[in-house]
Amino acid sequence: MIDGDTYDALVAELYDDILADVPFGDLEVWAEMVRTAEAPALELACGTGRVLLPLLARGLAVEGLDVSEAMLAVCRRKAAAQGLAPVLHRAAMQDFDLGRRFGAVFCPVASLSLLTADGSQAAVLACAFRHLRPGGVLALAMDDLAESEDVSPPADAPAVLHREARRADGSVVRVHRRPLPASAAGVTRTELVYTVEQDGRVVTRAVRAVDLRPPSPEAMRALLTAAGFTSVGVVSGPGGDGFLATARRPAAT
Ligand SMILES: C[S@@+](CC[C@H](N)C(=O)[O-])C[C@H]1O[C@@H](n2cnc3c(N)ncnc32)[C@H](O)[C@@H]1O
Repeated sequence: MIDGDTYDALVAELYDDILADVPFGDLEVWAEMVRTAEAPALELACGTGRVLLPLLARGLAVEGLDVSEAMLAVCRRKAAAQGLAPVLHRAAMQDFDLGRRFGAVFCPVASLSLLTADGSQAAVLACAFRHLRPGGVLALAMDDLAESEDVSPPADAPAVLHREARRADGSVVRVHRRPLPASAAGVTRTELVYTVEQDGRVVTRAVRAVDLRPPSPEAMRALLTAAGFTSVGVVSGPGGDGFLATARRPAAT
């Protein structure tokens, strides 16, 4: 049973613990991009600030945007604890208007793939284009299609332990995942079961589903070109995962 949004309050509270040991290896890529772009930069789907806050702590000018108030609330709380005051926008990345432009717009960890409705990824690129200064850079980290979930899993596919972490209060959080039948062509659906165990007793159990529509490098190139970007490039992704699609808003627009 699916009983909640993917990035609701429960997931927001567990997010950093669950991913604490994941070697993303992407921070330097984003730092270099923001450092070399005209300030400020904008991070799409910034979540709890995994990337945003370290960049701000380095004195880089970057703002964050996310649709989940719960994720932004965790980001604000962490920022306050570090003496940082991020500019955060609550908005959907496929439909936002901040009324000004940025030197760089970027989106880590393949969050673009979370948009599965037809045309929604193109809408993100159109929004990003409008928010970039002429000559500004767009960069999106993407999962490799070949490495993503099986689109047609067997009906009885087992759940496997995906993440396990001990939290500061001594409880243990686990995420089990199970591929579900695809909801549409090119869209993968995965069931995520979150449990929190305290003193050997499960105190929280919640089931979420996540749909992903990971575009191939070729599809990303086509989307970026159709959105009006130039200098479209695809290189290996940060930390060796997936790929990084980059493009520029033409200087004369
Ligand atoms: C995997 S998390 C990534 C968070 C952060 N960038 C990181 O690297 O840890 C995905 C984020 O995308 C956000 N998100 C999902 N759909 C969105 C949308 N349509 N517009 C903006 N943010 C969205 C979620 O709320 C969540 O914070």
